[in-house]
Amino acid sequence: MFLSAGYGRATKRGEHVSTYKIAWLPGDGIGIEVLEAAKLVLDKIELSAEYVPGDIGWEFWRKEGDALPQRTIDLLRWADAAMFGAITSKPAKAAEAELAPFMQGQNRVYRSPIVRMRQLLDLYVCLRPCKAYPGNPLNVDEGIDIVVFRENTEDLYCGVEFAPVPERLAKHLSEMSNNFQAFKNLDPEDYAVSCKINTRHGSERIARAAFDHAHKNRRKKVTVVHKANVVRMSDGLFLEVCREVAKDFPGIELEDANIDAMCMWLLKNPHNYEVLVAPNLYGDIISDLCAQMVGGLGFGCSGNIGADMGVFEPTHGSAPKYAGQYKVNPIATILAAKMMLEWLGEKDKAAVVEGAVAEVIAEGTVRTYDMGGSDGTLDLARAVADKI
Ligand code: IPM
Ligand code: MG
Repeated sequence: MFLSAGYGRATKRGEHVSTYKIAWLPGDGIGIEVLEAAKLVLDKIELSAEYVPGDIGWEFWRKEGDALPQRTIDLLRWADAAMFGAITSKPAKAAEAELAPFMQGQNRVYRSPIVRMRQLLDLYVCLRPCKAYPGNPLNVDEGIDIVVFRENTEDLYCGVEFAPVPERLAKHLSEMSNNFQAFKNLDPEDYAVSCKINTRHGSERIARAAFDHAHKNRRKKVTVVHKANVVRMSDGLFLEVCREVAKDFPGIELEDANIDAMCMWLLKNPHNYEVLVAPNLYGDIISDLCAQMVGGLGFGCSGNIGADMGVFEPTHGSAPKYAGQYKVNPIATILAAKMMLEWLGEKDKAAVVEGAVAEVIAEGTVRTYDMGGSDGTLDLARAVADKI
């Protein structure tokens, strides 16, 4: 077992729940198609669940000025877990231009709904297992089995950003930082500031999650990914806290590496790594790299996990250029559903789904275009369901 032993969901009502309430959020583009594919598999294993669809995505930004409406947040708070597809995001100016005319010019700011979801629901662990299933022609190498623990609520994703930069802020920075002197005479419109905020609490809980996982799954090493030689304060704190947490796990080695070197080493020696832990942005970067080593984004699955809620999704985006074609690989989403089952405590069902995925990959008779085949999204999902 390579997943998160120990990431069990705490039953909300303190008792066994036989019918799970699953919020079902397809979103945009291929998100709709891959969730349909995952549903074929979930139906086949007969999970006792009520799937409740929720509004999320670009359409709701354009019509309501909010891609993640309050009613969807309420749905998520009510649900036991959620499956999420993907969402289209556009830069600020393009997003404003697509708003319904009556909402334009009101300084509405588009923020990625998945990032908001992670923060609003305090889903502080982003768990991204990257496993080379035997026989996948896209594996960089057989046997790769890396789990990324990405901090999911703070860091450069905290959303504390300024453009134009308020003069009050510039004045304070000028008084407080020598390094700011290089920027102090700039016109407020000519630069932008994004804060990277890392807390002791946030760093501690993700480090603990990674070490716990290593401990429960008999992994020998946790690698901390950072850039503390340059980003001295915030990454320095992250690394320091990881070192403190490591003291509680004497059998597990802590290794640390800069994000740039890590990208190189991961590709060079993927078998040297088992569990990676990183602040939000480096975790984002490194998890795409790890996914690519085991087949690409068609295989990258992700769990956004908090104390009593989990939102599971493929790591890929909405891929507008493939939307509507039922062509993309649904395995990432099927594996995300498998992560959800595991987190709900349905370990047997999770193992059955993973076994079915592994069998279909190894057989190689049904493959989507990324794997060199010509089968569609739902064909592959049906092939998985047929193995169950
Ligand atoms: C991911 C994605 C998101 C992120 C985007 C869609 C905001 O890249 O889940 O890795 O940056 O976290
Ligand atoms: Mg990403």
